[in-house]
Amino acid sequence: MWWLKAVVISASVCLVLGKRDFPPDFVFGAASAAYQVEGAWNVSDKSVSIWDYFAHTYPEKIVNNATGDIACDSYNKWKTDIELVSELGLHFYRFSISWTRLMPTGFPDYISEDGKRYYNNIIDTLLEKKIQPVVTMYHFDLPQSLQDLGGWTNPLVADWFANYARVVFSLFGDRVKTWLTLNEPISFCDIAYNVGTQAPGYISPGIGNYICNKNTMLAHAKAYRVYDKEFRSKQNGKVSLANQILWLEPDTDVDGEAAEKARQLMGGMYSHPIFSKQGGWPPVIEKIIAEKSKEEGLPYSRLPAFTKEEIELVKGTYDYMGFNFYTSRTVRDAKPGEKIGAWPFEGAPDIDIVIGVRPEWKQTDAWWLYITPEGIRKQLAWLKKEYGDIEILITENGCASSNADVDDEVRVQYYKEHLEQVLLAIKEDGVKVTGYTAWTLMDNYEWTDGYSIKFGLHHVDFENPNRTRTPRSSADYYASVVKSHSLDVNNKIIDEL
Ligand code: BGC
Repeated sequence: MWWLKAVVISASVCLVLGKRDFPPDFVFGAASAAYQVEGAWNVSDKSVSIWDYFAHTYPEKIVNNATGDIACDSYNKWKTDIELVSELGLHFYRFSISWTRLMPTGFPDYISEDGKRYYNNIIDTLLEKKIQPVVTMYHFDLPQSLQDLGGWTNPLVADWFANYARVVFSLFGDRVKTWLTLNEPISFCDIAYNVGTQAPGYISPGIGNYICNKNTMLAHAKAYRVYDKEFRSKQNGKVSLANQILWLEPDTDVDGEAAEKARQLMGGMYSHPIFSKQGGWPPVIEKIIAEKSKEEGLPYSRLPAFTKEEIELVKGTYDYMGFNFYTSRTVRDAKPGEKIGAWPFEGAPDIDIVIGVRPEWKQTDAWWLYITPEGIRKQLAWLKKEYGDIEILITENGCASSNADVDDEVRVQYYKEHLEQVLLAIKEDGVKVTGYTAWTLMDNYEWTDGYSIKFGLHHVDFENPNRTRTPRSSADYYASVVKSHSLDVNNKIIDEL
């Protein structure tokens, strides 16, 4: 009666394993971004983006003077990339469209046939393989010609972006059902204008970042309204944006209030206008910056106000929430006269906050990335508390290393521990997380870290003209999670590593 025993054993195993299963309709994917993988920066009629320009003009700002000129050569190797996605068994692939490849003038007066063909090929081939395309319209690579007109600090950028979005929806929206307008305004506004380590490399702390910040909200909202009015009834897709949010926790017991204020700056600036019931800036932040500006002798706030119409325009422009998570920080009030470093990694001068890390947090090879898996669960719970029971798609999560090893045990553990916390957020905290995206499908151009920092499920040989891709242990691990739809069934694989 061996078979009966087997059935009983497997039934009891199933019962135990069930606890670590993902909900049946939960989806898994991996992500990339145009400038980080495509290369072919000047092929066909593509124009120059701010990252082409930044990497070529300020090589000294980038490790080993690296550029994305060739990157992973995904412009030529997109079929191989889709093979990798397919071998992982993923439900979706998140990639971004390069504005300058599709609309080289930046405006809809001219659409590149080559750009159209390139993205149509990717979308059609993914769908043939039953993989859903999740498409980001903007991942840091503004046309340089628009930058020359002020870029994200020119209020017209909201219309430029909406016009671009209209073209993108009209060309690809019959097949793409999940859209992200903007990836991480915190990176291309706050890191860019406060610190200068993101294109365009123009530093204007406390001014440029806030102007950019407001314009991103309007750009996202206008694109969303275009979808609503012109495409939704025919195309039936979902539109959101992707925000990276570092979990911020009090340094000591007395810093609870400071932490909540900082969370409003970190999680609230790019969420409150869209996802809250009231709309507009997080009130506590708006008030503090207005007061600071007054003290400085300004007759207006450095954080540009929304008009009533703008608040209404932006509020509610989401069908789900895109959330990128990597790491956490501690927060405390600054001491009187203390020098405060730049937002978002060192401090927040405008709200008198100093940012730190806990000594016990393990640092990866990326200076900014400490491994804090519980942060993802806490941040998910905070988002639910603040904005209600919104569907959340985790649009990025991943681990950095500087070595090229394919045996990447640290990355495997990172994924495992973060996925455990995601499951707890779903099962214990009732957060409506519907999918998870690994950053990233393969090693790629890691912005100012060039090729020195790797996040890939696949190793890429950047010395080889073929840019050969090789799966890492983390690819095997992730594939096993996806296949079993659970964190348990791959114990065997973990033991083998
Ligand atoms: C960005 C990616 C980047 C990753 C790791 C995110 O901020 O969206 O482009 O490679 O973090 O730094």
